[in-house]
Amino acid sequence: MLERTFIAVKPDGVKRNLIGKIISRFEEKGYKIIGLKMLLPTLELAEKHYAEHKGKPFYPRLIRYITSGPIVAMVVEGDNVIAVSRRMMGATRPEEAEAGTIRFDYAICKEFNIIHGSDCLESAQREISIYFKDEELCPNWTTTLEKIMDDEK
Ligand code: RTP
Ligand code: MG
Repeated sequence: MLERTFIAVKPDGVKRNLIGKIISRFEEKGYKIIGLKMLLPTLELAEKHYAEHKGKPFYPRLIRYITSGPIVAMVVEGDNVIAVSRRMMGATRPEEAEAGTIRFDYAICKEFNIIHGSDCLESAQREISIYFKDEELCPNWTTTLEKIMDDEK
């Protein structure tokens, strides 16, 4: 099913100069990037994004982390992109992430784990609308992979 998900390179990923490498994973897979920007999350934005974790012991540190520097926010489109991008990211704790996933390759700590990705359709829709206005998205272009798949129909 064609889906959209919200992906972000977290502040540690930006500070470690991993923006390009992380974007490349999604491009190389064949997904289509339809929204992309760098921003410094405000406290209000971070609290909205991670509202589900409010009250948990790690919440204050999570909010401090996400507001500690710029992030690179993306909307990525493709078949089953929500679940597949979570697999590409790997488990929250990098020591539990499968080898070859983004978190396995670049992170060693569950708190500073490089990347965020929406965990279900509802989260994806909610998070995309927090970070992007409709007019900031560019869905109307065709990737080579989409063209190949279209031509073969
Ligand atoms: P994310 O939402 O950022 O994509 O990560 P996730 O789904 O894999 O994990 P989630 O449970 O939603 O946790 C959100 C982020 O909070 C930090 N965290 N710290 N100290 C801790 O025990 C702890 N647990 C989670 C991580 O940055 C995690 O990605
Ligand atoms: Mg999460």
